[in-house]
Amino acid sequence: MTTFPVYRPRRLRASENVRRMVRETTLAASDLIYPLFVVHGENSRREIPSMPGQYQWSVDLLPEEVEEIAALGIPAVILFGVPTKKDVVGSESFATEGIVQKAISTIKQAVPDLVVITDVCLCQYTSHGRCGLIKGSIPGGSEFTEQPGSGGLQDGSILNDETLDTLGAVAISHAEAGADMVAPSGMMDGMVSVRRQALDRVGYGHVGILSYAAKYASSFYGPFRDAAQSSPAFGDRRCHQMDPSNAREALREVAMDIGEGADIIMVKPALPYPDIIRQVRDQFGYPVAAYSVSGEFSMIKAASERGWIDERAATLEALTSIKRAGADLIVTYSAKDAARWFQEAE
Ligand code: PBG
Repeated sequence: MTTFPVYRPRRLRASENVRRMVRETTLAASDLIYPLFVVHGENSRREIPSMPGQYQWSVDLLPEEVEEIAALGIPAVILFGVPTKKDVVGSESFATEGIVQKAISTIKQAVPDLVVITDVCLCQYTSHGRCGLIKGSIPGGSEFTEQPGSGGLQDGSILNDETLDTLGAVAISHAEAGADMVAPSGMMDGMVSVRRQALDRVGYGHVGILSYAAKYASSFYGPFRDAAQSSPAFGDRRCHQMDPSNAREALREVAMDIGEGADIIMVKPALPYPDIIRQVRDQFGYPVAAYSVSGEFSMIKAASERGWIDERAATLEALTSIKRAGADLIVTYSAKDAARWFQEAE
């Protein structure tokens, strides 16, 4: 039996006002989180070649930038530090004068109510570019001292539990500098619980955790690794990030992170993983964020620079799809552009 010609779907598509009335998914600046890369130095705003329109900012230029972000109605930023000095244990990641710590306090002074989230991982800070402490000698890493208690692991492996202690120290240093939320992104087992306990122990129970709970070993991170200078010198991230083939495993990861105390759950990347976003949305009552990663951004940029795609339309369609899939929040390099487009449309 067919409902046609009684029911004609095109009636509800006939004009923009009718379309607005039946629109199921809407985007707003309040859905967006804007990533910022911060570097040492002064008066420096260096464009990232593989991410047109995105910059590495020196801290002195941040006040103006965050005022602009806040004025666009974007509620939050997520910070990525690019240190000058790297070493085998990633010491700058938890240093009081570290780049992220300085950036947090500067931003909080400039715009106190902008929510400051910090990415917590070691890969930008280690000389080997791996996300944790490494067992044994590493290629080119003469300063290395071996960590105790690493059992039967091969040299070159990431030591999960030793790494957790460092990550706890990083979270505390970010909280001390004024961060509102920390975002564990290294996919170490136990990363949320160790951070929750570390923060609570020293009086930072009010600092939230946005967990990169289901983070896949994705080729779409390529441009970011240029921006953050965080490519692994050896090995790859498949031993801690998830296999793109797996969905049920993502739900286990999310369940664990919620049990460990995560406040917001993140799926990453976003566009190739709408099924994961939807399942997390349906199965857990927690806010869901999705990270629309560097490769997703740069693909649209590159195609639009060639005139192959309309940048604005494609960007908004991509963001809408991520929201429709079930994300409450989207981390996106397009946040400022999108927020400007929303203002123009008003
Ligand atoms: C890890 C981290 C990465 C990204 C965010 N946090 C890189 C990685 O895991 O290799 C990627 C973000 C993007 O591609 O936009 N510190």
